[in-house]
Amino acid sequence: MRTESFSIIPIVPEEYDTTHADKVDWSRLNSEMSDQERKFVNGLIRYFRPQSLLEVGVSQGGGSVNLLNSIIDQPQAGLTSIDRMEVYYGDGVTPVGNDVSKTFPDLPEGKWNLIKGKDPSEVMEMLGQWYDFAVIDTAHLHPIESLNFLCVLPYLKDGAIVVLHDISVFYYGGDNGNNNGRSLATRILMTALTGEKIFPQRKTTAYVSNNELVHNIVAVQINADTRKQIGDLFQSLYTPWETYPGEDIRSVKNLLSKHYPIPLMEDFRQAARLNAAWVLSGRRTFSLERLTGAVQALQNKKAMFYGAGQNMHSILDLCEAGDVKFEFPIWDANARRIGEIYGHPVVEPNFEEQVPEGSTAIITIGSKIISSDVRKTLEYSGWTVIEGMDELFDYRNLSS
Ligand SMILES: C[S@@+](CC[C@H](N)C(=O)[O-])C[C@H]1O[C@@H](n2cnc3c(N)ncnc32)[C@H](O)[C@@H]1O
Repeated sequence: MRTESFSIIPIVPEEYDTTHADKVDWSRLNSEMSDQERKFVNGLIRYFRPQSLLEVGVSQGGGSVNLLNSIIDQPQAGLTSIDRMEVYYGDGVTPVGNDVSKTFPDLPEGKWNLIKGKDPSEVMEMLGQWYDFAVIDTAHLHPIESLNFLCVLPYLKDGAIVVLHDISVFYYGGDNGNNNGRSLATRILMTALTGEKIFPQRKTTAYVSNNELVHNIVAVQINADTRKQIGDLFQSLYTPWETYPGEDIRSVKNLLSKHYPIPLMEDFRQAARLNAAWVLSGRRTFSLERLTGAVQALQNKKAMFYGAGQNMHSILDLCEAGDVKFEFPIWDANARRIGEIYGHPVVEPNFEEQVPEGSTAIITIGSKIISSDVRKTLEYSGWTVIEGMDELFDYRNLSS
């Protein structure tokens, strides 16, 4: 791999070796990058000649095709692609990476390693490889891209190039139809990172209007300063999160604690605590203490949680973030199918048993209709009932 800094390269990446990029027939594929963005990535790879490439966020595989095409004539070069999903998020059916075999039906052994259904935090250590080129293009909801980057950085060589895509996607279509966030993740990551950065020469993305163009892709060169200043990225984790990655937070914490110093991990834990409260309370409070206090208040009572859906996951996520022991039974009519949540067994409801006075059931079911039916049955069996998250966390009295 070449090692020149971006400031002295004699090329414009998106204009370099475009004939090679044009060998792919994009009309048959489902690319999520524009022609200029694909050529920007192609030009960087054709010029710098990295050997070990990493892609985080695959979707149908348009990006993988572009990366593989850029290294197809370099026998030593290989690509590892990781996606959190098994199937394309747009239809829930098409296998992730499906487009690759349409262009490259006979890839040589070792050229492409596709890992599906995993977050990078679960696999980077096992892969045990050092990369000199990476593309991060994942959930776009803060803090996902920043967490992806922090998990990948320990496995990047000095001089590695990291491409961040969709740095301006938040301009597109208001809230993108997603009321949970603005898709700020990649912009926040980019601005918090130290390292030389290069954009395409011309802004071409018309997310605002045809006359108000923006850049939507950037490449960052990793150097010693990137690692020295990485505390800035940990600081950016305090910026309100747009999503809480409850399922991955444990593996992220585990991987980061092996690679980053204790004071930075304290920032990570504190930012995760505050933002667990923020996201899981539906942006009502940053105070995790106030939320977990509600669960702690039940500690000396016979209590049971009814419903093993999204709200129950949130309660367990809050307890995990706040180091609160959760030792209550969880009941659900679909217990056999659900089995367990985060290691907590889910059991079938037992309405036969007489319960001691003051026993409290917390109904976490989202549907009001089902919830009020369950309430009646539980009250009949002698339970004192708390119905729903509003009542459990007493949101009406939360002012912060
Ligand atoms: C915008 S698409 C990727 C597009 C692709 N890079 C391309 O150019 O065609 C985002 C993908 O990131 C995946 N994703 C979301 N969160 C992730 C995570 N934490 N780790 C890995 N992949 C993730 C989604 O499942 C989705 O397939």
